Amino acid sequence: MNLATGGAALTAPALPDRSEVPDPGAGYAFDNHGPHAQEQHRCLASAYDPVTTARLAGTGVTAGWHCLEIGAGGGSIASWLAERTAPGGRVLATDLKPELIPSRPGLEVLRHDIVHDPLPEAGFDLVHARLVLTHIPEREAVLRRLWSALRPGGWLQLEEFDVEYAPVLLAPDRRAREAYQLFQTAKARALRAAGAEPAWGRSCAEAMRAAGFVEVDPVPQLVPWDAGSPGLQLQLHHTDHLREALFAQGMTADQLDEARAVMRHPGFRAASCVLYSVQGRKPE
Ligand SMILES: C[S@@+](CC[C@H](N)C(=O)[O-])C[C@H]1O[C@@H](n2cnc3c(N)ncnc32)[C@H](O)[C@@H]1O
Repeated sequence: MNLATGGAALTAPALPDRSEVPDPGAGYAFDNHGPHAQEQHRCLASAYDPVTTARLAGTGVTAGWHCLEIGAGGGSIASWLAERTAPGGRVLATDLKPELIPSRPGLEVLRHDIVHDPLPEAGFDLVHARLVLTHIPEREAVLRRLWSALRPGGWLQLEEFDVEYAPVLLAPDRRAREAYQLFQTAKARALRAAGAEPAWGRSCAEAMRAAGFVEVDPVPQLVPWDAGSPGLQLQLHHTDHLREALFAQGMTADQLDEARAVMRHPGFRAASCVLYSVQGRKPE
């Protein structure tokens, strides 16, 4: 079964057969300094902040906690944590390119590569990262660093996608269905070519347990996507942000236009890809 297409084999048009072998020099697939970055972070916050903050609240995070937000992007979660931990709390927000993280009291911003730069072993109460480890081939080593950054009993919360289940439920016609499926397949390939593992969400809980975390609690989230929903807005955004990478996987401009049109069609409905929100604790 072709999971990337929700079980339906891709018929014409199909992508040319290209290698998905990651390019070691490719690095992170998106660009936090490019013209699309702000819109990407707006879409991410709109689609996923409610899920993320509801789960974070469940840890009991409150005034005085010390928190670490890795790959903070546009900083919406770091800002939420700073508000939540005041007074007396401290939030350190890191990113390769941290310029889009707003400054506010209680929030320290650090340009930092979680793979290579030293991380303070500061006894954080809570570490959070959303849609970051999926992009990092060295994700198991990163997990061990996050472990070291936590105090005994501290919480790690990760959110990661599995993009291999996102079937079309209603499409205006077969051609529209195929255009959307082609885009999703090309996107997964483009992410893999940049070193990401876009299905890592399904492995995240096992990886956390293997790293020594206890009380590991994975919660999958799947919602309907239709025109105007924040998740589909994010997909539309990807057609811009990843345009060249999608072409490199063999999509044509016409195919991309067709995919964009179907995502705006009022009769279109898909199941979202799965977002796994996974919590665990460092043993006391
Ligand atoms: C898909 S965005 C997610 C942003 C934010 N966590 C969110 O969910 O809204 C991934 C973020 O991870 C950052 N990132 C990628 N590789 C990184 C690394 N090695 N160290 C630190 N940040 C990294 C990127 O710059 C980007 O801001």
